[in-house]
Amino acid sequence: MARSPKPVYVCQECGSQSPKWLGRCGDCGAWNSYVEERPQPQEGSVDAAAAAGHRYALAGASGSARLYAEIEIAQHARLTTGIDEFDRVLGGGVVPGSLVLLGGEPGIGKSTLLLQAAANMAQGGPVLYASGEESEHQIKTRGERLSVGKAPLYLLAETCLERILEEIARIRPALVVVDSVQTVFSLKFQSAPGSIGQVREAATQLLFTAKGQNIPTFLVGHVTKDGSLAGPKALEHVVDTVLYFEGERHHSHRVVRAVKNRFGAVSELGVFEMTSAGLRPVPNPSKMFLAERPTNAPGSAVLCSLEGSRPILVEVQALVSSSTYGTARRMASGIDSNRLSLLLAVLEKRAGLNLIGDDVFVNVAGGMTVDEPASDLGVLAAISSSVRNRVIPATTAMFGEVGLAGEVRGIAQANLRVREAAQMGFRHCIMPEANIEPNARAEGDCQLIGVRTVGEALDALLA
Ligand code: TYD
Ligand code: MG
Repeated sequence: MARSPKPVYVCQECGSQSPKWLGRCGDCGAWNSYVEERPQPQEGSVDAAAAAGHRYALAGASGSARLYAEIEIAQHARLTTGIDEFDRVLGGGVVPGSLVLLGGEPGIGKSTLLLQAAANMAQGGPVLYASGEESEHQIKTRGERLSVGKAPLYLLAETCLERILEEIARIRPALVVVDSVQTVFSLKFQSAPGSIGQVREAATQLLFTAKGQNIPTFLVGHVTKDGSLAGPKALEHVVDTVLYFEGERHHSHRVVRAVKNRFGAVSELGVFEMTSAGLRPVPNPSKMFLAERPTNAPGSAVLCSLEGSRPILVEVQALVSSSTYGTARRMASGIDSNRLSLLLAVLEKRAGLNLIGDDVFVNVAGGMTVDEPASDLGVLAAISSSVRNRVIPATTAMFGEVGLAGEVRGIAQANLRVREAAQMGFRHCIMPEANIEPNARAEGDCQLIGVRTVGEALDALLA
């Protein structure tokens, strides 16, 4: 008789294993992260693994190595989710047989977005929406708000992986959604749902199904307090595409960002607005982010940031006030606080502003985050505008990276940004001189003003 396998202890943070329980993981340093898991018995042969459904067979693969030159590329048409902005983050639609992970904080709209996409895609064939978090009634109640039609959309309130796989085999859906991979458990493991072994098993089995039967699959993943996907980093390696939902509870807009995509550009962005009838795509984000911009207020600047392949104009606001306490406070929201410290040092040293005794607050309006160096010039301009109490003209946009010597450096894809500014009706664009072609000093009605240093930029803005 085969002996039952010995338990192993697995770190829930990084997946490293140990035969004994440890208080602290030797690999990633996490405390109290080891959990007992019982592995299933391992069969040695490939056939045994294949019989157990473990063979990683891609659709159309023969199982033996083939010559590169002999392989023909089949042009698989991408499937559309019926939601433009969602298609955009996916790189132009859903690739057949792909496994996509959608992560985000609770209540941000993951289930809503996927139910909307599932309902749209059900018009082309049956779709299975398996949820371990909500009952069929709850999902249907949400569906009524989203006005889901009569398309063949199957709901399955189930957490057992084997049952979900059975239903996939029975319905043969054109799309599968598994709402939260953390709630799914396999009967083969004794550990609790959400543990690294269970999550990895669920993702792997669904990967085999997706690739083997060419069924695109969406997995919902929870994120932890620090914003990374809960449980295993391993999950991100298994799937083809990782999308993150961003946004703030207090704002209605939501951003879906691609952080890994085997079939498209990363850092591509989809912008949505949460309404009473679900998520609505926002085709023109610049307009939304600039909608509430104050006119004639010092400390407000519009910068042109590039998200994936799309330029977006956002407003950055700064408030500089004299500090009443000994140490001045510096607060940044929407930009990196280290970058803010660096830019303040550049302003002091290169533009002669004295900010030692001042509190500085910087905020990107609308809860947006910009993390490109090209936003430097906008941040500096907003701070200087607040310090000098001078208004930056409402029709001026800007972008450019600032170096430690106070120089304004050229950045990538300047022409896309300029075009967006011109389209949004801006009349002046302050930008790195290096990015201006000698005989192109205007784009439509928008005049391009090249600057080489921070000093030149501030003169042009606040003169
Ligand atoms: P949900 O998709 O359940 O979030 P997640 O699956 O990421 O946890 O979204 C829930 C939130 O969205 C909830 O606070 C209510 C809000 N909401 C709307 O504002 N309008 C709608 O039409 C729907 C369905 C939800
Ligand atoms: Mg949900």
